[in-house]
Amino acid sequence: LVLLLQEKCRQAPGPTGLPLIGNLHQVKKHAPFQTFREWSKQYGPVITVYLGLQRVVVLIGYETVKEALVDQAEDFSGRAPVPFLYKATRGYGLLISNGERWHQLRRFTLTTLRDFGMGRKKMEIWIQEESKYLVDLLRENKSASFDPSFFLSRAVSNVICALVFGQRFSYKDAQLLRLLQTISGILKFLSSPSGQLYNIFPRLMNYLPGRHQTIFREVDEIRNFCTEKITQHQETLNPDDPRDYIDCFLMRLNEEKNLPSTEFHNDNLISTVLNLFLAGTETTSSTMRYTMMLLIKYPHIQEKMQKEIDDVIGQTRSPTMEDRKSLPFTNAVIHEAQRFLDLVPMGLPHYATKDISFKGFIIPKDTVILPLLHSVLKGEDHWDNPWTFNPDHFLDNNGNFKPNPAFIPFASGKRACVGESLARMELFLFLVTLLQHFTFSSPEGPDSVDISPENSGFGNVPRRYEMIVTPR
Ligand code: HEM
Repeated sequence: LVLLLQEKCRQAPGPTGLPLIGNLHQVKKHAPFQTFREWSKQYGPVITVYLGLQRVVVLIGYETVKEALVDQAEDFSGRAPVPFLYKATRGYGLLISNGERWHQLRRFTLTTLRDFGMGRKKMEIWIQEESKYLVDLLRENKSASFDPSFFLSRAVSNVICALVFGQRFSYKDAQLLRLLQTISGILKFLSSPSGQLYNIFPRLMNYLPGRHQTIFREVDEIRNFCTEKITQHQETLNPDDPRDYIDCFLMRLNEEKNLPSTEFHNDNLISTVLNLFLAGTETTSSTMRYTMMLLIKYPHIQEKMQKEIDDVIGQTRSPTMEDRKSLPFTNAVIHEAQRFLDLVPMGLPHYATKDISFKGFIIPKDTVILPLLHSVLKGEDHWDNPWTFNPDHFLDNNGNFKPNPAFIPFASGKRACVGESLARMELFLFLVTLLQHFTFSSPEGPDSVDISPENSGFGNVPRRYEMIVTPR
């Protein structure tokens, strides 16, 4: 008993909860990360809470999150078996795995995406091409005002489709549009109170009807789409000329087919393809939708960006990543939009795969760990005015771009987003191209634009809105 009590004392402090539900009743259901941040004022930067029976340690503030994810990267690189993700991926694939499986899939995915041009010239050309299609689509659209969501997500998803499936889809493709609507619904569901409840009481909710049941059917639809694509690849694979991520995976699968311990099998292939397709679409396109919303809300910022772009690139040449250095204001606006949106406020849940000793505390094995990215992106100590959208956060007095280590929307360390360089390239190239060709405004004027998120939970999901697109 004494040992048990001593052990308990070494756990990080936190508010007292109730049997079975733990601290659930005390957590704001529309913004749990705000409650955690409030509690950290009383209990410090490492707090223990119970969501149902699950012990969760929340890491708050830049220093603490960095110390965990970067300085103690090895200890903190585990992923929690988040029930929704686990069921959707059947426990396979890069996103949900740990140990040797994760190491193998992560290394392979990063190398292969890089070989196909992620973060390089080849990818730049793809995105430039896709931007032209997007510009044409917006030009052809004759409605006075419209919701840009699926215009943007079709362009963004074509970039990940090129990398993973080796093809882009026509914007008229009805199947793709349906899949994108589904993906958008999934992020919204995960960010709703019922989505979060599913992750706390999955066994119970699996027996109950509700939105989660529809969502699982929809995930299966996307899964079937990925499986179909993989079958088509198997039938047409030419090992001398791999076309994309799937081809490379199939080649490795063939090489290792007699190796009993191989991680390169069909289950990991399907689920990792699903991970890339889901993680690579809605994240980037929601960020674009939100950045454009901010530009509509603050027309003087939009004008200043256009002027900088006109001066450096003009209105006809396609932007390149080289141009970013010469466009400090534009670069600062895009960074600030990501910071201010705070798309994934609690990161993706990490996990203690063994007891971890951290800042004098013990984080026991099987604890879910939430690095509160929100507390870093909006940390009072690292930003002059964390609650205001202000590109000056990324500019020095001479108007040069000024990086800030607390800018970690993609998290940090060994488990950080694998798509970071791709997403940043897309945001820059798509947004600059759009501003070269159009001015964006709202039918009801800038003051009517509501920049607060529609749902907050797992994600801060930006609202849908109508915009007017005026050719320049
Ligand atoms: C993981 C953010 C775009 C694929 C993550 C994580 C965050 C994140 C916060 C969790 C990291 C952690 O566990 O600590 C974002 C944001 C994006 C974006 C804000 C866009 C603005 C993308 C794209 C791809 C992608 C384009 C596809 C190539 C992934 C994958 C993981 C991940 C596969 C899991 C990595 C792992 O578990 O090892 N992302 N992401 N993301 N992201 Fe992204």
